[in-house]
Amino acid sequence: MLTQDELKTQVGQAALQYVQAGQWLGVGTGSTVNKFIEALASMKDQIPGAVSSSVASTERLEALGIRVVDANEVGVLSVYIDGADEIDGQGCMIKGGGAALTREKIVAAQSKRFVCIADESKQVQALGQFPLPVEVIPMASNQLIRQFAAMGGVAQLRLKDGVPLVTDNGQHLLDVKGLTISDPLSFETEVNQWPGVVTVGVFAHQRAKVCLLGTASGVKTLNF
Ligand code: 5RP
Repeated sequence: MLTQDELKTQVGQAALQYVQAGQWLGVGTGSTVNKFIEALASMKDQIPGAVSSSVASTERLEALGIRVVDANEVGVLSVYIDGADEIDGQGCMIKGGGAALTREKIVAAQSKRFVCIADESKQVQALGQFPLPVEVIPMASNQLIRQFAAMGGVAQLRLKDGVPLVTDNGQHLLDVKGLTISDPLSFETEVNQWPGVVTVGVFAHQRAKVCLLGTASGVKTLNF
């Protein structure tokens, strides 16, 4: 029986097949992506570099000698490789457990293809069991908590060391429990237009085209 860590290593290595020599790529954030970054070091002389979705991933990439540039310095990226907190049968995801959802969505939007890497515990029938991360402008927090309550959700400010967590973008995060997200595309569209929402952690507009799923019987490739 493979451990969750070993499943993450498997999919991190499998994602190398989507990295194109000579092309910039987008790199996500999280423990699964960390496995991918380790594997990517073996190809560092074949790629010009990466656009990163977080300070944490930038530090890991640079420590391995992989060049990181600002998103504005390059054009459309061939591929974006990132993990997920949940992924459904259409490639829609909940993301943001690692607090990097805003930059993740930006880099995903800049990329031709989102390749999701995840262990099988992340596969769900419908999104919403994992508390939904939403990055918000701090002054809007309480109003947004009330708006989520009106749709049946219980939103809480994410804390770190007893104080509100501050994202890489200087904003706060809500985690929303109890939502039923039966139509991810409509849900994302609606919450996106609430004043004070920076990014909602439903990735339906930027859904995965491919998921490399780590299972006990090996890596399964799901195409959406
Ligand atoms: C970070 C994310 C991550 O992709 C997500 O939390 C999955 O992380 P992990 O690979 O550690 O399970 O969205 O903001």
